[in-house]
Amino acid sequence: MRQEKLEYLQKKYESRLNPSSDKELAAAGAHGPGGPGPGGHGRRGGRGGMPVKKPKNVKKTMGRLFAYIANEKLKLFIVFLCVIGGTVANLAGSYMLRPIINGLTSPEGSVSFLLKGILTMAVIYLVGVAAQYLQQRIMIGVSQNAICKLRNDLFGKMQRLPVRYYDTNNHGDVMSRFTNDVDAVGEMLNNTVVQLISGAINIVGTFALMIYTNVWLTLITVAMIPLMLKAVQAVGGRSRKYYRAQQAAIGTLNGYIEETVTGQKVVKVFNHEEEAREEFEYLNHDLRGKQIKAQFFGGIMGPVMGNLSQVSYSLTACIGGILCVLRGFDIGGLTVFVNYSRQFSRPINEVAMQVNTIFSALAGAERVFSVMDEEPERADAEQAIRIVEKERRSLYQIPKKSPVTEAENFPENVVSQDDSYYYKDVKGAVTLADVTFGYNPDKTTLKNISLYAKPGQKIAFVGSTGAGKTTITNLINRFYDIDAGSITIDGIPVTELERDSLRRNISMVLQDTHLFTGTVRENIRYGRLDATDEEVEQAARTASAHSFIVHLEHGYDTMLEGDGANLSQGQRQLINIARAAISRAPILILDEATSSVDTRTEKHIEKGMDRLMAQRTTLVIAHRLSTVRNANAIMVLENGEIIERGDHDDLLMQKGRYYELYTGLSELD
Ligand SMILES: Nc1ncnc2c1ncn2[C@@H]1O[C@H](COP(=O)(O)OP(=O)(O)OP(=O)(O)O)[C@@H](O)[C@H]1O
Ligand SMILES: [Mg+2]
Repeated sequence: MRQEKLEYLQKKYESRLNPSSDKELAAAGAHGPGGPGPGGHGRRGGRGGMPVKKPKNVKKTMGRLFAYIANEKLKLFIVFLCVIGGTVANLAGSYMLRPIINGLTSPEGSVSFLLKGILTMAVIYLVGVAAQYLQQRIMIGVSQNAICKLRNDLFGKMQRLPVRYYDTNNHGDVMSRFTNDVDAVGEMLNNTVVQLISGAINIVGTFALMIYTNVWLTLITVAMIPLMLKAVQAVGGRSRKYYRAQQAAIGTLNGYIEETVTGQKVVKVFNHEEEAREEFEYLNHDLRGKQIKAQFFGGIMGPVMGNLSQVSYSLTACIGGILCVLRGFDIGGLTVFVNYSRQFSRPINEVAMQVNTIFSALAGAERVFSVMDEEPERADAEQAIRIVEKERRSLYQIPKKSPVTEAENFPENVVSQDDSYYYKDVKGAVTLADVTFGYNPDKTTLKNISLYAKPGQKIAFVGSTGAGKTTITNLINRFYDIDAGSITIDGIPVTELERDSLRRNISMVLQDTHLFTGTVRENIRYGRLDATDEEVEQAARTASAHSFIVHLEHGYDTMLEGDGANLSQGQRQLINIARAAISRAPILILDEATSSVDTRTEKHIEKGMDRLMAQRTTLVIAHRLSTVRNANAIMVLENGEIIERGDHDDLLMQKGRYYELYTGLSELD
C-alpha cells in the first residue's frame, strides 16, 4: 500500500514538471487515492527539480550553445592560452624538482644552487597562478554574458509565444527553464569547459613528461589506466543513476511543498493537514533513501580512485627504486615521476566526474532551446494595417495594396490618403460572421457565431458556465485564431491588423484578475503608460475604486504584492476595471468584471462606466443578469452557439432560455 501510494504521488508530481507523463498519470489515477490535490496557481518547480536527462542531440545543442560565447572569441582565446599556460606551468613547476634533487644529491650541490632552483620553481608557479587567475576572471565574464543573453533571449521569446502555449504548458515547467536549466548551463560554462581543457592538457602533458622521464615506469602507470577507468565507470555509473533519482525525488518533493504552501488555505478548510503530512513523509522518506545512495556512491569515488592511485604509486616507487639501484635511473627523475603518476589519475577522475554536469547542462540547454523553437504568435500580415495618431485622431493606416482595399465597397469612409496609404477613422464596430472555433481540432467550442456591434453599442453575453463566452473575447483580440468565418473591426479583418494595433484598440478586463507587484497607481497606469496622475484618479473614480484607494495606508502609492494579496477580491476587480477604463481604446470588453463586487458598488460603476461606454463599443459578459439589462443586445450562449438574441424586453417576451435564467426558472430544474 505504502509503495503504491508513493508511486502514485511520484507520478503525479513528476507530471507537473514533465507534462508528457500526464497520460500515464490518468491511468494510474484510476487506482490511486481520489480527488485532486490542493489547488493553487503560480506553480513553480523548485531548484533541482528536473531529473537529469540525457540530451537528445549533443552536437546540435553544443553548436547552439557555442554561438552564445562565440562573439567573444578574443577573450576565449586568451582563456585558452591561460589554461594552457597555467597547466604547463604546473607541469613544468613539478618537473623542476628533478634538477633540484639531482643537483643536491650530486657532489657539486650547494645552497646557492638550491636557492636558484627554488626561485625558478616559484617563478614558474607564480606564472601558473597568474594565468589561472586571469583565466577564471575572463571565463566567468564570458559565461555570465552568455547566460545573461540566454535568459534575455528566452524571456524575449516567451513574450512572443501565443496564449495557447501558456494554456497548454505547466507554469512550473516553464519557470524551471529559467531556474534549473539556465543554472545548469551556467554551471557548465563557468567551470566545466575550462576543467575539460585543462584536464585534457594535463593528461597529455603529464603523459609526455612521464615518457620523457622514464618509458618503463610509464608502462606500469598506463597498465593501471584500464583498471581506473573500470572503477570510474562502475562507481560513476551508479553514482549518476542515483544522482538522477535523487534529482527527480527533490523535484517531486519541491512540487509537493510548493503546492501545499500555495494551497494552504484549502488544506486547512478541508482538514487535510494530517494527509498532507503523511504524503510528505512518504516523499521525504523516499528522497532520504535515494540521497543516501547518491551521496554514498558520489563519496566513494574519491577514495576508490585514491586507493588505486596509491597502488600505482607504490608499484612505481618500488620498481623505480629498483631501476635507480640497478640501472642508474636518477633519483630526481624518480621523484618527479612518482609525482606525475599520482597527478595522472586526477584529471581522468575529474573529467569523468564532469560528464554528469555536461549532461545536465546539455539537457537543460535543450529544454531552453525547445522554448526558443516554439512557434511564436503568427507574424503580422505583410501589409498589416497600423493605427496611427493624426491630429489627435486615431486612424487606420491602410496600405494601398492591402487585401482590404480590394474589398468591393472599400473607398467608403476614407478620410484622407497620401501616396502609399489610405486613412480611416477608428470607430470600434465589431462584426463576427459565422465564426467557428475549437481549442483542439477535434472539438468545436464555438459554432457559427454571428453578431454585429455598432460603434458605441453595448452587447452582452450570457449563458451557463463553459458556454463559450470568454472564448469569443479570446478570438476578438487574437489570443487564438479562428478556424472558419471572419472577425472584423470597422470592416477590417483582425488578421489584417497589426497585432499591437489591434490590442491597443481593445481594452479588456479579463475574467482572471491579475495585478503586478507595484503601486496602485502603477497598476492602473498599466492601461496607458502616458496617463497623468489626474487621469489615473479619474479612471479610479469611474471604476468606483477611488474611495477605497484613498483609505489605503499610502493611498495611490500603496504597494501591491503577490497579485494584490492585501486587497479584497472585489477591490482587485475595481483596480482591474480602472486599468481598462484609463485606456482610450474604442472597444471595451468586460468579462465578469464585477462578479465579486456588491450590487450597490456595481450600480455605481455602471453609472461611471456609462459615460465611458457611450463612446465605446462594449462587450459585457455577466452572470448577474441585472448588469446586462440595459444592453442594446443580449446574446444567450449555450454549448458554443447563440440560441437567443435581442434586448432584455424582447428576450423576456420570447419566454425562452433568457426568461428562464432571469426569472430563476432554470434554477429549479
Ligand atoms: N485553453 C483552453 N483549451 C481548451 N479548452 C478550453 C480552453 N479554455 C476553455 N476551454 C473550453 O472551452 C469551453 C468554453 O470555455 P469558456 O471559457 O469560453 O466558457 P465561459 O462561457 O467563459 O464560462 P464561464 O462562465 O465559466 O467563464 C469550455 O468547455 C472549456 O472547457
Ligand atoms: Mg468565462
